[in-house]
Amino acid sequence: MADGLEEIYINFQKELGQIKDLKSLNDFEIKYLGRKGELTKILRNLSKLSIEERKVQGVKANDLKIKMEEIISEKKNELQADAYKDIEKTEKIDITIPSKERIGHVHPISKIRMELEEVFRSMGFMILDGPELESDFYNFEALNIPEHHPARDAQDTFYIEDDPEWLLRTHTSPVQVRAMQKYGAPLRAIVPGRVFRNEATDASHEHTFYQIEGLLIDEDISIANLIAVMKELLQGIFKRDVEVRLRPGYFPFVEPGFEMDIKCLICGGKGCSVCKHTGWVELLPCGLVHPKVLEYGGIDSRKYNGFAFGLGLNRLVMMNYGIDDIRYFMSGDLRFLEQF
Ligand code: DAH
Repeated sequence: MADGLEEIYINFQKELGQIKDLKSLNDFEIKYLGRKGELTKILRNLSKLSIEERKVQGVKANDLKIKMEEIISEKKNELQADAYKDIEKTEKIDITIPSKERIGHVHPISKIRMELEEVFRSMGFMILDGPELESDFYNFEALNIPEHHPARDAQDTFYIEDDPEWLLRTHTSPVQVRAMQKYGAPLRAIVPGRVFRNEATDASHEHTFYQIEGLLIDEDISIANLIAVMKELLQGIFKRDVEVRLRPGYFPFVEPGFEMDIKCLICGGKGCSVCKHTGWVELLPCGLVHPKVLEYGGIDSRKYNGFAFGLGLNRLVMMNYGIDDIRYFMSGDLRFLEQF
């Protein structure tokens, strides 16, 4: 029996020397260690031996099996490395050959987003991110929109099935409180991001769209500061002087709250279909941060105050390029995208 094992090992060594590629190594492994392999046969026959013999032979056979497995695995690594070297020699990738594929480019929403990030970075704002799957607390509660508040109805919400505590954020405003909790005051941040509304789509409504939230907190912040920063923002996008006006607007997380309108860029204020013949286009809801929201963010509202705004990016891009249907953005339609 012992001779049987030795003989197997001697043959194993001899044959191994002749193996030059992975395929033959695989056959070789099956021949010795496979289900019908030489060594397996011996292991199977152990049951025919006496208990003492079985113990001795069993240990020897198993040791040999482990040894052979190790040798094969080593050989496999060697051959694999050789195979890669061969590929390096024979196959070449010429990275200078032009691709046959279409070359991608930046989506118009991303383009404006990047431009705005640059404008705000130059004014010392951080650019922050927040979760798209948000809690009821940050999306509503901490923004002074408690349960049963009518403002909740205005934001048709996608709730997570079986768990109304979690939802797809309806706006980027929840990151206001997250940012306050993380960084404290003073604070300057913008939050570009994707938001979701559970509503029927048409030329001016989409279930998924983009916003940029802005937040500045410091001591003695006034509406004049808000207007100055907003004008900087608008000039950064439209590359020209933009006339603005403020109207009162209601949002539970700001007090006072405003709608900032811009003089229509299409007709210059004379009146056209884009501004519905009013000469003005509603673009930027904003206001001074409500003291309750500051407190939720862990900021002392007697010492600090600030302003916030929520810019709808889709609307802005539509205005800038004269796009008349919001659904183009998510369509993936190359006839639309290639124009930018
Ligand atoms: N979050 C609001 C929305 O999506 C927009 C908004 C209004 C954001 C006023 C603000 C703000 O920061 O001050 O409808």
